[in-house]
This record gives sequence, structure tokens and C-alpha cells, in this order.
Amino acid sequence: MKIAVSGKGGVGKTTLSAGLIQSYADSGEPVYGIDADPDTSLGITLGINEDKLDELIPLIDMKEVIEEKNKGGGVLVDLNPEIENVLTEYSLQLGNIKFLKMGGVKQGGSACYCKENSFLQSLLNSLLLDKVEPVIIDMSAGIEHLTRGTARGVDTILVVTEPTATSVKTAGVVKKLAYDLGIEKIFIAGNKVRNKEDRDFISDAFSEDEIIGMISFEEELLSNAQKTGTVNKYSNITGINDIWKKLLGGEK
Ligand SMILES: Nc1ncnc2c1ncn2[C@@H]1O[C@H](COP(=O)(O)OP(=O)(O)OP(=O)(O)O)[C@@H](O)[C@H]1O
Ligand SMILES: [Mg+2]
Repeated sequence: MKIAVSGKGGVGKTTLSAGLIQSYADSGEPVYGIDADPDTSLGITLGINEDKLDELIPLIDMKEVIEEKNKGGGVLVDLNPEIENVLTEYSLQLGNIKFLKMGGVKQGGSACYCKENSFLQSLLNSLLLDKVEPVIIDMSAGIEHLTRGTARGVDTILVVTEPTATSVKTAGVVKKLAYDLGIEKIFIAGNKVRNKEDRDFISDAFSEDEIIGMISFEEELLSNAQKTGTVNKYSNITGINDIWKKLLGGEK
């Protein structure tokens, strides 16, 4: 299962990604967690040591090394054993979790980072297409990063939304784009749901079929976010494990 988690800024993409990764890991299954947000936070959220995270070389900075080992690999980065070694060397292992960070693809300004962009997309695709293990990608906010390239190897997209008009609107845009890109399964995950009103707000905006689940607002998450070094068990947040089970069981 190759899952991309998308949605408006701050809706809970990283929280849901971490919860799904932990759910897989807890079940004893190896899982890849990929931080595709240049403004990285998935690693910290998963409880990986900050010093180790700072030392982890982002894949974007491995461009030359990987290209050197991929001579003749064509448009897609060929995941030959040498590149496998590079990926293993440049990933952090936390129990069953293999964590990788893509690194920043700078945007704006006059410089063109097209080459870096297409390299990252190619590498991500190879990871997605060649690996048998589940891969969870924590995307950056908005839609710019959801391109045909990124979407190629993804079979499921989870669009996270809060019970707010703006995030529901963005979720609608992401959903449409995902559909246009041909992503097979597109689901809405409601987050920060405090009461029936919140639940109804999200339910009214989408069809029952497309909503995979609702995640409760957890006061503890917010207060923990004010401290450093606090590690949550995100898979325990009401709603997250149910979403994981639905994905696994093919119920949706
Ligand atoms: N269910 C929840 N209950 C309470 N707080 C939550 C919940 N989900 C997320 N949060 C809090 O909301 C903030 C944003 O969450 P998160 O970082 O997961 O969102 P994001 O979509 O990844 O944000 P960004 O767009 O910046 O990457 C965090 O402080 C997080 O702890
Ligand atoms: Mg995030």
C-alpha cells in the first residue's frame, strides 16, 4: 500500500501519517515513512532523536551520488542494489520504521529547480513502484507537490480536513486533482473533530463513501506540542487506528 497524505496547512497530515506509520510498525510490519515536506516535522513527530534527524542527509542532496550509481538507469531511477545501499545508509531505522526525508525543493525566485524536482519524483516513484513494503508519504500543504510524477506510484491518497470551511474547500481541490491524476483510491479523513456539529460539518461536505473516518480533537496533542521531547502514540488517537484498519481490510 502506497499512501500519500495531503491537505491544507495545519490540518493534521503529519499527525495522521505518524499514526498510520506507527500502526503498521506496531503490527510487526516493516514500513517506510517518507517526509516529503521540505519543512520537515514527521521525524520529530515519530519520536526520532533530533540530532539524528539533523544529521540525516536528505535525498535531494544525494542527487550526484545516486545518479552516479544509476548510470544507464534511464528516466526512472533504477533501484539497483547500490542505490538500495544508499537508501539504507541514508534512512533512519526506528524499530520497524524506515524513515527518509526528501529534502527541500526550493520554489519561487528566479532559480529553476526543475532538475532536482524531477530527480526527487523519479526516486520517489522507484521507491513506490519497486518496494513491497507499505510506504506512507507526508506531503507538504497545498497542491503544488501533487503532480503526475508524484502520483504515479501512489495507490491511495488521504485528504485530511478540519471542520472548517477553508480546509474543506482545499480538500475538495486536492480531491479533484487526485482524481484527474488517476489516483485509484481517494479518501477524506476528518480531523480535530470535537462534537456532532464538527462531524456533521464534514459529513455534509463529502459523500459517505469517500469519508474514510473521523479523528477526534485531542487536547493532549496540543499541550504536548508545547513541550519538547514528548512522544505521542499517534496510532492510539481515536479514529486513526480505525482508518488504518479500513485501509488494510479494503473496507473502503
Ligand atoms: N486530532 C488532533 N487534536 C488536537 N490537535 C491536533 C490534532 N491533529 C493535529 N493537531 C495539532 O495541530 C497542529 C498541526 O498538526 P500537523 O502538524 O499534523 O498538521 P500538518 O497538516 O502536517 O501541518 P503542516 O501543513 O504544517 O505540515 C499540531 O500542533 C498538532 O499537534
Ligand atoms: Mg506536516
